[in-house]
Amino acid sequence: MVFSPRRIAAPLRCLLAASLAWSMAASVQAAAPAKPARLGLCAACHGETGQAQIPGAPNLAGQKLDYLREALKQYRDGRRNVPLMRAAIGPMSDADLDELARWYSAQTPLPPTQGNP
Ligand code: HEC
Repeated sequence: MVFSPRRIAAPLRCLLAASLAWSMAASVQAAAPAKPARLGLCAACHGETGQAQIPGAPNLAGQKLDYLREALKQYRDGRRNVPLMRAAIGPMSDADLDELARWYSAQTPLPPTQGNP
């Protein structure tokens, strides 16, 4: 089989396009927040993507960042006195709470009919 330049050019172009698309996708992903180390403390009730896993737990996906951050501080500081949430958060730092708020805020909410358990 003879490889003419024309025959090789098409797969090469294809490869180039694929690697371009990949690098673009990779840079889009970099803009999303990294998974917080403490997400495991929340996932049993709020899910990793902010969809409630138990009745009574709110969906957090797509909530406003400021709102989530403030709510978490209120639980931690006792201004919202909900033992369940206070136990989950414990004495976390502002930076940890911020990371979790950013994560949940960046998740895409499902339509309400699918999002509620
Ligand atoms: C044992 C189950 C449980 C765990 C674990 C848990 N939560 Fe919650 N969370 C709840 C419940 C129940 C509420 C509703 C409390 C209330 O009425 O204020 C809540 C409320 C919240 C709210 C307020 C939402 C709103 O709309 O006001 C935020 C934010 C939140 N949780 C984040 C977290 C994060 C972050 C973690 C992990 C560090 C976590 N939760 C762990 C059960 C849980």
